[in-house]
Amino acid sequence: MNLQIRPASVDEERHLHRIHQELKRPARDTYPPEEFLIAWLEDEAVGCAGTAVHQDGAYFYGLAVRKAWQRQGVGSQLMQARIDLLAGTKMNYAIALVMFWNSRFFRKFDFAPVKRNALPQSAGFHADLTNPLLRRSAVMVRSFRQAIDPTVASGLPGEQG
Ligand SMILES: CC(C)(COP(=O)(O)OP(=O)(O)OC[C@H]1O[C@@H](n2cnc3c(N)ncnc32)[C@H](O)[C@@H]1OP(=O)(O)O)[C@@H](O)C(=O)NCCC(=O)NCCS
Repeated sequence: MNLQIRPASVDEERHLHRIHQELKRPARDTYPPEEFLIAWLEDEAVGCAGTAVHQDGAYFYGLAVRKAWQRQGVGSQLMQARIDLLAGTKMNYAIALVMFWNSRFFRKFDFAPVKRNALPQSAGFHADLTNPLLRRSAVMVRSFRQAIDPTVASGLPGEQG
């Protein structure tokens, strides 16, 4: 598969809306293109992933792969690309809000569940972290500096073993 992962340009925001709409993901008012990578197969945008950075941490959100292209490694490549972008920066950690069925995927990339009250204060910068609609998602964190001891919570809600 000749997949190319590139930063989204300003005129590509419509692809970000479309990918999320198709998957019936909770709608966002905006998908800031400067925060997104898009995975391209030829001229088809098949997936995307967002990263919002703030101070010493990053928030991973908006990871989505179009149905027809799932389970072929596209999501993993998007995830690895945004991890690679952060490695070598001053970022100490990345956090993500994850529903339990996606936790295995995030664990593969060294994310671990963490209690919300154990997060560094700077992790609260993104509105999603205080959005009541997302309160059932577990917070997962990946350290880039061992600055966070993922003294992890007792497991994700609903997770089976
Ligand atoms: C999660 C998602 C981005 C994974 O993308 P992908 O391209 O299918 O992922 P990859 O092929 O690289 O990796 C496959 C892994 O993803 C997970 N995965 C993929 N599709 C899945 C599905 N339908 N149900 C559960 N897990 C799934 C599994 O952990 C799988 O690993 P496995 O094959 O060892 O079981 C994709 O399923 C998706 O867009 N889902 C809807 C949006 C979403 O939930 N985003 C994440 C928000 S936290």
